[in-house]
Order: sequence, then structure tokens, then C-alpha cells
Amino acid sequence: TTTSVAIVGAGPAGLMLAHRLGRSGVDCVNIDVRARAEIETTHRAGILESASAADLLDTGVSDRILRDGDEHAGVELRFGGRSHRIDFQDLVGASVWLYPQTDVFIDLADARDRDGGVVHFGVSGTVVDSVETDSPTVKFTDAAGARHEIRARYVVGADGSHSVCRKLVPEAQRSQFFREYPFAWFGLLVETPKNAPELIYAHSEHGFALVSQRSDTVQRLYFQCDPDESVDAWSDEQIWSTLHDRLSGDDGFELHTGPIIDKSVLRFRSFVQQPMRWGSMLLAGDAAHTVPPTGARGLNLALHDVRVLAPILVRALGAAGDSALDDYEPQALERVWRAQNFSFWMTQMLHNPPAATGFDLQRQLGELSNVVGTRAGRAYLAEQYTGWPSAGGP
Ligand code: DHB
Repeated sequence: TTTSVAIVGAGPAGLMLAHRLGRSGVDCVNIDVRARAEIETTHRAGILESASAADLLDTGVSDRILRDGDEHAGVELRFGGRSHRIDFQDLVGASVWLYPQTDVFIDLADARDRDGGVVHFGVSGTVVDSVETDSPTVKFTDAAGARHEIRARYVVGADGSHSVCRKLVPEAQRSQFFREYPFAWFGLLVETPKNAPELIYAHSEHGFALVSQRSDTVQRLYFQCDPDESVDAWSDEQIWSTLHDRLSGDDGFELHTGPIIDKSVLRFRSFVQQPMRWGSMLLAGDAAHTVPPTGARGLNLALHDVRVLAPILVRALGAAGDSALDDYEPQALERVWRAQNFSFWMTQMLHNPPAATGFDLQRQLGELSNVVGTRAGRAYLAEQYTGWPSAGGP
């Protein structure tokens, strides 16, 4: 078969691109190695900047976020046993939305079904070829065992942090920038009421903790742990006492405890591959860049890539031809490195490195005081957490 754009990956980046192309009358096909049910149940981030919420609403994906999502007009930074609110509305006139990535995926996959989009989940044996020509191919075996060959004009690698597409850029022609961190996140889903109206990012001498939410009855909690930690080594009692040590303070704040219904360790790194285009192939989302989770930039950045890329592909398929593609990387990459810096900054400000000295911890407290202590400091965080002005539109 032939199509205009073959999209490797059917996560939020790949499906939002397909949705946008479909709205512009461009045909495309998505494939993903994962089953739909697997993506729906892999817990990821939970915060959408308002531009990402607008992507869902204004392009007609779904308005479910208005019913099932929660608008948050601020966050709390907690350190020295006290919480300090960053008021996004007051500082920068913006909010974010608590709406889990799994729900974003469900909405996008449902919208593809509704609009007649072609998405193959659970594929195997994917081979992407001839990306240096103007008729690249994607071969794969579908979930029922049938072999397919798609001939496309463009291929988009939206295949996540373990991308196979990005490896198609020859080693001599690509730069990979990365940084590892000596810690990971222990992530939990627990059945309790909400602990606070908004998210709490906590620094403590025992390490970082994050109190997030999923619904009125299920909450999302994270705490800094060793990257090689196994979830099975932790009893519920140890988990609750670790969280207590990191969150308790003079103000008497206490986390609700309850049944733990999901546990996982999330390892993370900072990563960027350049260029984001090679011949007829373009990279979007985690395939091109991965950020540490602190500050919830990853999904938002992926959606930004696609906001920029979709109209560029439409122009490239029209009269402009390949030269339209030259605009993609400059428009996407500036935000990529801004988000890399923000994610790194939040991570280093709030986590406790294994060999931290008293000086290191006190300096972090000084940095946190600088952030919450002046309007400029709070606005600096608020501006970045809620997203930057975008090059593209819906
Ligand atoms: C969540 C994850 C994040 O990385 C973050 O910064 C905020 C919230 C979450 O899963 O809810």
C-alpha cells in the first residue's frame, strides 16, 4: 500500500500527528509494537500545559478533559518542612491541567477510530528503509500475522525513547547529547482521597518526593530512589515511612495512607539527538529527546513537536516540497533545549545526590528560597512549568 506519511509509533506524539494530518486531508498510517491495552495501562506523566489541553480541545480530539481533568492554577514547592505556593494565574496568567497521559492516549486512539484512521497496534518485525530517497518504506507484520509493506512520501519516527528510527541517521552524521542521573523515581498509585488541592514537589534531606493526583479516589506519588531499586524489595510500611520522612514538617502535613495498587521504578536521563530530520524521515517526541520527569515536560514537548511538524508536512506534500522540512528543526529544537534546561534545573534543585554534603543541601535550600522568595523567582518557574509561547497553532 501507499500513503503520504508513515508514522512509526502510536503514542501521543504519533497519534496527535495522525489526527492533525487527517484534519488537513493528508493520509497516513501509524504502527506501534505495543498493544493498545499495554499503552493504556502504562502509567506516565499527568500534567498538561494549557497549549496541550488546547491541542485536544481545539483540534476536536475530545472534550473529556473538561469533565475528567482538573485545572491547576499553581503548585507547591515544599522544603524545610513548609510549603510555598507558586501561583501560576497571578504570576503568568496561565494554568495547567491534571489529565493523565493514559487518558490523552485513550482520547487520541478513540479519535482515530472515530475518524477512520489506520493504526496497527502490536506489530513486529518493523523495517524502515530508503529514508534517504523520496519513497521510503515501512515493512512490518501485523498482530494477525500478515506482512505489510507501506510505501510513503515521508516517515515520521515517533517511536519513543527506545526509537529504532533515530538509529537510521548515520552515526557519523548525528550528535547524541545525554546525561545520566544517579537516582530514579519510585512511582505509586494509591487508593486514598487527594492530599492537597495541587501538586507538591518536596525537597528534604532524605531526598525528593512528589505528591500528585489521579482522581478523587486514586493518587499518584513518587519518591527518589536508587536506580537499581527493585519494587519488590519495599514493604508498604517502608514506602509510607519513606514518604513520611520526606514530607513531614512543622505545619503538620500528613499524607493519607491506603492500598497501594501499582508500583514501578522509573529510570531517567536527559537525551537529545540531532538532527531531527534525515532525508525523508523526521523524528518527533521522545524518539528525538527525553527529559527527566521533574516538571512534567516530556508529553508537552512531544505535542509541541507535532504542532510544529504537522503544517510543515502539509506544505512539503504540497507545492513547497522538501524545502519546507528545513523549518522543522529550528522551530522544534529551541523549545527542546529550553525544556531540557528546565527539567534538569528542577531535578538538580530538588533531588539529593548520593554523595551530597551539608553544603550541597544548604545550597539547594538557598536556591529554593531564591525561587519562592521573590516574584521574579516564582515567575521564572511558573513561565516554564506552564509552557512557553508556541511557534505553531491548532
Ligand atoms: C506527574 C509526573 C511528573 O513528572 C510531574 O512533574 C508532575 C506530575 C504525574 O504523574 O502526575
